[in-house]
Amino acid sequence: MGKALDGVRILDFTHVQSGPTCTQLLAWFGADVIKVERAGAGDITREQLRDIPDVDSLYFTMLNHNKRSVTIDTKNPEGKQVLEALIQKCDVLVENFAPGALDRMGFTWERIQELNPRMIVASVKGFGPGPYEDCKVYENVAQCAGGAASTTGFDDGPPVVSGAQIGDSGTGLHLALGIVTALYQRTQTGRGQRVLAAMQDGVLNLCRVKLRDQQRLERTGVMKEYPQYPNGKFGEAVPRAGNASGGGQPGWILKCKGWETDPNAYIYFITQAPVWAKICNVIGKEEWATDPDYATPAARLPRLKDIFAEIERWTMTKTKFEAMQILNKYDIPCGPILSMKEIAEEPSLRKTGTIVEVDHPTRGKYLTVGNPIKLSDSPTEVKRSPLLGEHTDEVMAELGYSPEQISALRTAGAI
Ligand code: COA
Repeated sequence: MGKALDGVRILDFTHVQSGPTCTQLLAWFGADVIKVERAGAGDITREQLRDIPDVDSLYFTMLNHNKRSVTIDTKNPEGKQVLEALIQKCDVLVENFAPGALDRMGFTWERIQELNPRMIVASVKGFGPGPYEDCKVYENVAQCAGGAASTTGFDDGPPVVSGAQIGDSGTGLHLALGIVTALYQRTQTGRGQRVLAAMQDGVLNLCRVKLRDQQRLERTGVMKEYPQYPNGKFGEAVPRAGNASGGGQPGWILKCKGWETDPNAYIYFITQAPVWAKICNVIGKEEWATDPDYATPAARLPRLKDIFAEIERWTMTKTKFEAMQILNKYDIPCGPILSMKEIAEEPSLRKTGTIVEVDHPTRGKYLTVGNPIKLSDSPTEVKRSPLLGEHTDEVMAELGYSPEQISALRTAGAI
């Protein structure tokens, strides 16, 4: 079966996490992704957080599946010529260097257009144009600058960053959408274009509901679904909401059987209005279904703390999985707090290809997250990440270089 992006060639100039997330997705959709790395060193993540000496780290292998690797010294004049040949051959250049690095290499937008007017140049940067546009940025900086950290955590504690890599992997996802959109527009215009995904913008996009709340707060001074209501204080900015549900259906994380020793023996419980009577039945508080202090969502809002304490008395008598089984019978929305160990061992995730076991020539078998986006006509086959420079000769030959030329370029240190 063919793949959605068959025939699309990507010059992958990405490193660390944000850019590689994007190009890995494009590779899974069938694009030929040629990762250009610095000879000898390669993407810095190859050697970061290593768990086996001298073997590509999981950090690298889990972000660079289905790609080919070529090593080119793009500061060497002959290396630059090889890169020019690649630019002429490819449809998209993806990069996430520090601001200005591509220009300093000599590959400005104007120069790239001269070489290939159909080329799409896609970049991740920390910030868009403005006071911070020259800054280098990593994940947690983006979470802080994009509004995630100030709105995450508990009211009486400091800002908190999330384990979900919304700055890096989140921005990589945004960039991938920009690239396929630009490819689609090119079918009409014949022209390439620049695509920019700034990490601050990507995080803010994911924090959209918090900008909604900022404006609600300014208008009303209070937000009744936040844990600060009714006894706490609201200030000028959206406060941290602990584990409160983001939408109009109040929720909280509650202890389950075993919580004293298992840090993940918890369940997320949502007191969805349509199933309120069923919740009352399950926890043995049938009278709450008709009591005017509890019967309506508005009446419940000032009493949420007590309500969740009562529900927790029930959840603490069940394991999170037992509670799930019972609550699901009644269509009560809830979810177990799953540890990474439990997720790694979950058979259904293996079955769908969301968790995949991959074999690697120097590392052996390891687990990875497969393609989370499933296309019925373009199935994903997860292939191991390339060794450094593994495909240099192959790609050079495809560009028309003879074995003698390849050998001379290697001697000159260009590849
Ligand atoms: N041959 C020769 N030189 C190469 C090369 C190659 N194949 N590939 C890269 N380089 C050079 C670049 O030309 C540049 O050199 P210069 O600074 O002299 O112009 C340098 O390597 C690239 O370095 P830089 O991007 O500055 O890396 P860094 O390790 O110092 O910074 C980041 C890393 C992530 C902070 C930075 O790249 C960044 O802010 N990127 C944008 C935001 C981003 O994606 N952040 C998230 C990362 S997960």
